[in-house]
Amino acid sequence: MNSLNKTITRFLLEHGAKSPVSFHMPGHKGSAIYRENGYGEFLDRIMDCDITEIPGADNLFQAEDVILEVMEKYRKLYCSKETYLLINGSSAGIIAGILATVSKGGKLVMARNCHKSAFNALSLGDIEPVYAFPEIVDEYGILGEVTAEEIERCIIENPTAEAVILPSPNYYGILSDIEAIAEVTHRYGKTLIVDQAHGAHLKFFSAMEGCEEMRPAEELGADIVINSTHKTLASFTQTAILNVMTDRVNLAVLEDKLQVMESSSPSYPLMASLDINASLLLEKGEKLFGEWIENLEWFYHEADGIEGLSLMKVKGMDITKLNMDMSAYGVDGNQLEELLMEKGIFVELIAGNIAMGMTGIGNKRCDYEALIAALKEIASKNKLEKREKTEQPRALTRRLLRKAVPAERESVHIDEAEGRVCAMSIIPYPPGIPIACPGEVLDRETLDYIRARKRANEKVIGLSSDMHILVGK
Ligand SMILES: Cc1ncc(COP(=O)(O)O)c(C=O)c1O
Repeated sequence: MNSLNKTITRFLLEHGAKSPVSFHMPGHKGSAIYRENGYGEFLDRIMDCDITEIPGADNLFQAEDVILEVMEKYRKLYCSKETYLLINGSSAGIIAGILATVSKGGKLVMARNCHKSAFNALSLGDIEPVYAFPEIVDEYGILGEVTAEEIERCIIENPTAEAVILPSPNYYGILSDIEAIAEVTHRYGKTLIVDQAHGAHLKFFSAMEGCEEMRPAEELGADIVINSTHKTLASFTQTAILNVMTDRVNLAVLEDKLQVMESSSPSYPLMASLDINASLLLEKGEKLFGEWIENLEWFYHEADGIEGLSLMKVKGMDITKLNMDMSAYGVDGNQLEELLMEKGIFVELIAGNIAMGMTGIGNKRCDYEALIAALKEIASKNKLEKREKTEQPRALTRRLLRKAVPAERESVHIDEAEGRVCAMSIIPYPPGIPIACPGEVLDRETLDYIRARKRANEKVIGLSSDMHILVGK
């Protein structure tokens, strides 16, 4: 292809040509799921589908026709009161959900491990956060569930808080007890928003034999539930849905906030992929989820037989996340990722000793077979070589001291930032959860953690390439 030296397009074409095995987002895992299920023509003619709001094409922000029909498909699938299509990801739904339920200048109880979009809503709505701290899974040094007791503590200490938001499942697939959290939230007259970005599939898994415990927030009393259908299901990246489940939500206000947060030129190919995803779920859901579960069962069975490989198991886990740990051989998460990449297998997230593979509706048995074969080979090689075990940075568990968000800011080198008040969110990516937020005092452990993430070659948003951070003057 001409004039594509080192460009995005060249990269995408070359990467795709290598037939990589994807255990990362998006959930469709490539064109096969559309082609095999009768949607190949849409892919072949995708540019012809890239139109604007001509007559008959409806309007995302006042849906009355073909877009409304897709919303209705989702209403049926998730048994929601109303479902909105999102083309700016769950991020847009999370921000709109918060702005629609918390008054300007009001208080929001939020899990400290919320996605950065929830933190962005704070500054947009001049909202004061009340942090609910997740439990720590000690064995793995990662953040776990948020308990109903912790939410109740926050509400009792802050009775004027108007809403509660938390992610469930979290990035690793750990679910919180949404039923208990909804009970507490509603007992105090607040609104519950669940960021279910990583759990769009739960509704369908919980209906399958053996997966009944993976219940979706839609069935557990949440008022607003936001699902990234692109992460685990079959719609395109950037698409998601927002489900309203109860009358506690003012739909007119929510719709207004949604149109604020989304492009005024919503992409029809994106919306069409939400349409196709809904049709696949309605018409082929049982088959697709049956195969997905069978493949997972096969994977867990085979993985069990690999000496030195352990898979993180925490009560109430979403089984679609493969949290692989080979630290028994001194292989940490980053090294495991690299070893898998050498075999053309790409995972989603690294956390300490864990490399997390995100499965999706589009993964085939051959993907799981490739992963098992690679893990077996890594295990047998490293059994002989046995590396030095490396100490991994653990999840940051400290509660940082909070002060007012600085009005004036300056940039300082990370080595001079200890004791200074953070003036901009510092966000390792993934998972996109701020390690320090504006107003929090940067302590040595936090700064060491940021340095370690950078040394591991990870993206840290908020830290400049010359290792500077914005702090209060
Ligand atoms: C917990 C959580 N919530 C929300 C989001 C945002 O989702 P989206 O990429 O669909 O905007 C992410 C993104 O990774 C996430 O991890």
